[in-house]
Parts: sequence; structure tokens; C-alpha cells
Amino acid sequence: MPFTIAIDGPAASGKGTIARALAAHFGFPHLDTGLLYRAVGAMGGDPVAAAQALTAADLARPGLRSAEAGQAASRVAALPGVRSALVDFQRRFALQEPGAVLDGRDIGTVICPEAAVKLYVVADDATRAGRRAAELGVDPAEMLAQLRERDARDSARAAAPLRPAPDAVVLDTTAMTIDQAVAAAVVEVVQRRAG
Ligand code: DC
Repeated sequence: MPFTIAIDGPAASGKGTIARALAAHFGFPHLDTGLLYRAVGAMGGDPVAAAQALTAADLARPGLRSAEAGQAASRVAALPGVRSALVDFQRRFALQEPGAVLDGRDIGTVICPEAAVKLYVVADDATRAGRRAAELGVDPAEMLAQLRERDARDSARAAAPLRPAPDAVVLDTTAMTIDQAVAAAVVEVVQRRAG
């Protein structure tokens, strides 16, 4: 059985950083599933057709990390046809031996409900906005408004809404450094691997 690590949480909570660090620590491949939705949002045209035609080259498009690309991703991610077109790719990635790390919004709830470890990473709104604004060099107040809009849309949609799986461990990174957050996540994974 492959050892899948599912990491979910709202925008800029630190889940991507933690996912990359866990992947490096355990030697597993990592999939940033937000990038799939960002690429679909950036492709224009019919989003469902774009999701069905998505290739690895689309994930390397410039500008996918911008705040605008995040908003476009959140809009197309609410479409059930877009989500279902991306399920198989994500599940195949998750089931690689000896294991894989995926981060997103619905990994523990929909994509990999059988994941060996599920983390739900949160941080308070101002902290998340401050971190992402510093990363992108934009205004923190504007970023705060954008993150709240995105989280509200991602949580309220009918298709695979943002929420913790019942068996997820919640990790609040508000008062943590990156090293502390990664260390806490490693402890969770090591405990599950031992059990
Ligand atoms: O993780 P991110 O900020 O790059 O994600 C961008 C948007 O994509 C996010 O606002 C909602 C959507 N998304 C999703 O619906 N499901 C996922 N598994 C990952 C991202």
C-alpha cells in the first residue's frame, strides 16, 4: 500500500511549504494540486475542455503564482466538470510507491480519503495575508481581501468544498516558524508510519 500524505487548508496557510519539506524529508514526490486549477484558469476558453486537455507543459506557464491566477483558479475550481476531469491524474499520482505528498483543498476528503496521514494546515487571516503579500510584493490589505474572497468561494461551493476530513490533524501555523511547522508535520508522519 503506498503511503499517501494529504495536506489541505486555506490559501497561504503554509501547506505548500510543509508539503515540499515533507516530500524532501521522506523522499516522496510532491504534487501541488492548486497548480492544476491555476493552469486551467489561465488557459481561457471552456474550463472543462481545458481541464480535460491539461498537459505537464501547461503547469509550467508563467504567471501561475500570481494573485489573479489564484482567483481565476478558485472560480474554475467550483465547476464539477473541471474537478472530475482532474481526479484520475491526482489519484494516480497519490498511489505511487513508496508514497507521495499532495497538497490542496480536497485531498483528504475526496481525492485520497484513504491517505495514511491527513494534515489540515491553518493560520489566522492576517498572518496568511502578510506572508503571501511579502512573497508576491503586494499590499497586505488587498491580499487579505483576496484571500478571504477565495476561501469563502472555496468553502461554499457544492463540489468538494474546503473543509478538514474528520480524521485530519489540524496544524495551526500562526505562531510557528517554518522550521517549527515542518518539524510538527514530520512528527505526525513518523507517528503514522510507526503505527
Ligand atoms: O493552493 P492554491 O492557492 O494554489 O489553489 C488555487 C485555487 O485552486 C484555490 O483557491 C482553490 C483551487 N483548488 C481546489 O479547489 N482544490 C485543490 N485541491 C487545490 C486548489
